[in-house]
Amino acid sequence: MKISRREAIKLGLAGTGVLLSPLGFPGIATALSPQIPRFQQTFRTPPVLKPVRSDETTDYYEITIKKSLVEILPGLKTEIWGYNGIAPGPIIRQIGGKRSEEGRQSVVRFINKLGQDPQGRPINAVIHLHGMASLPQYDGYAIDYVPPEHFKDYIYPNDRAATLWYHDHVQDLTSRNVYMGMSGMYIVEDKFELDLPLPKGKYDVPLIIQDGRFATDGRLIFDDDNQRNLYGDVILVNGVPWPQMQVANRKYRFRILNASVSRNYQLALSQKAERLTIGERLIVIASDGGLLGEPVELTTPLQTLGVGVAERYDVIIDFSQYPIGSQVFLRNIGFTGSIDNDTRTHTIMRFDVVREEPDDSTIPSPLRPVESLTNKPITRTRTFRFERSNNQWLINGRSWDPKRVDANPQLGDVEIWNLVNPGSGWVHPVHIHLVDCQMLSRNGLQPRPYERGWKDVFMVGEFQTVRMITQFRTRQGDDIKGKFMMHCHNLVHEDHAMMTQFEVGEGGSDPVTTAPAQPISQMLPL
Ligand code: C2O
Ligand code: CU
Ligand code: CU
Repeated sequence: MKISRREAIKLGLAGTGVLLSPLGFPGIATALSPQIPRFQQTFRTPPVLKPVRSDETTDYYEITIKKSLVEILPGLKTEIWGYNGIAPGPIIRQIGGKRSEEGRQSVVRFINKLGQDPQGRPINAVIHLHGMASLPQYDGYAIDYVPPEHFKDYIYPNDRAATLWYHDHVQDLTSRNVYMGMSGMYIVEDKFELDLPLPKGKYDVPLIIQDGRFATDGRLIFDDDNQRNLYGDVILVNGVPWPQMQVANRKYRFRILNASVSRNYQLALSQKAERLTIGERLIVIASDGGLLGEPVELTTPLQTLGVGVAERYDVIIDFSQYPIGSQVFLRNIGFTGSIDNDTRTHTIMRFDVVREEPDDSTIPSPLRPVESLTNKPITRTRTFRFERSNNQWLINGRSWDPKRVDANPQLGDVEIWNLVNPGSGWVHPVHIHLVDCQMLSRNGLQPRPYERGWKDVFMVGEFQTVRMITQFRTRQGDDIKGKFMMHCHNLVHEDHAMMTQFEVGEGGSDPVTTAPAQPISQMLPL
């Protein structure tokens, strides 16, 4: 008997990966990773990268992409391909904002020292700063390669405050490259936000969530289940498996980024590792494109935080509600359309409330006005269907072709896009480059309150239509023309080849030929 994966979920078999093997899911049944105890390793955050130089307007950074051997599982060595040889890469914290005010731009030089992959092919890199309104030649276009022994200087305008991330975007191989380590957080702050009384400094903490699967010798196993999904059975936070973090009994801001290849999360706090307790609160203050209009409080068990691949949500956790000595777990109660073959992925990390500390932070309401785009005249509506057919991932029946443009909005146009997932069994976290957007509805219903801010990724669930609105001009009013990608951010779907592109206006700079990578032999100091 063959059963579909959807039936497997209904039958509750999804939690027993090994049993599924004879039933026709080769990838799902991959052996489990070494069963290390959870919540033993100390939480840490990636280092903050210092600029190599700064001048009046610009901060200059340098990152070398290279292989290295690191200890992820205790006592084992894992080869990663990482920015500066670490995974996730270093954090970039940049002061941004309007150019006319305090905004600063940055130049990040990426140097490719990756060499060859195990098949003897050169490992090209493409770096995309997800969430930044960059010019086409700096946006990480999928075939704008930085080959090994080459470098490229990417220019970023940092025009607004938000939690962003940089990651690899090579055509056909993004899932492998990101899985091997190529992702990092990039935080833009501006004066408005820094002046708010929110938790800051060491109380403003990145949480980069990923999953991996490891062989008994520590190697990362890349298994995308015949180009369908890649699910690991080890949860990593900032590269550490199921960490435990010691916290004070006060408020913290956590910048949550889902940098997994395929896994979507549904997050909630709990006082128990294996089930939800009632009345635990997460307060969401920001989405992909920056602060929400007002904070959104989510209380267990009914309200949880869905974080699809590539989404960012900043949350406040107030540990003052827990006595010293408490343990609080960040749980993942799972997502329809995701398959977990190991229930250990249902808990992400543990917070140990270990000390008292004063807290002068507060959560203002309103946070920052979000001007509704629906007040502007709407130029047109488009519909994009994200479908599986003939074992291919398609958008409006077609797969990625860099020579084809599927939409040509003009500068300043306001458009409504319907993102449609007509099928079952798959969730598509759809990402649009360049623009910040606002969700209007999901299947005709109001978006969840925490989805009502600026967004660049939309979770489109089974049989769902997400309606969103955007304007083809940056939030600060800058005109950017040219070709930009849109794709499913399940990186396996993206690679095979659920991606398309739109072109804003006419005559924008060509993403491939305008600022090509240069050989390292020609590199001058920044
Ligand atoms: Cu986060 Cu086109 O990518
Ligand atoms: Cu992007
Ligand atoms: Cu998808």
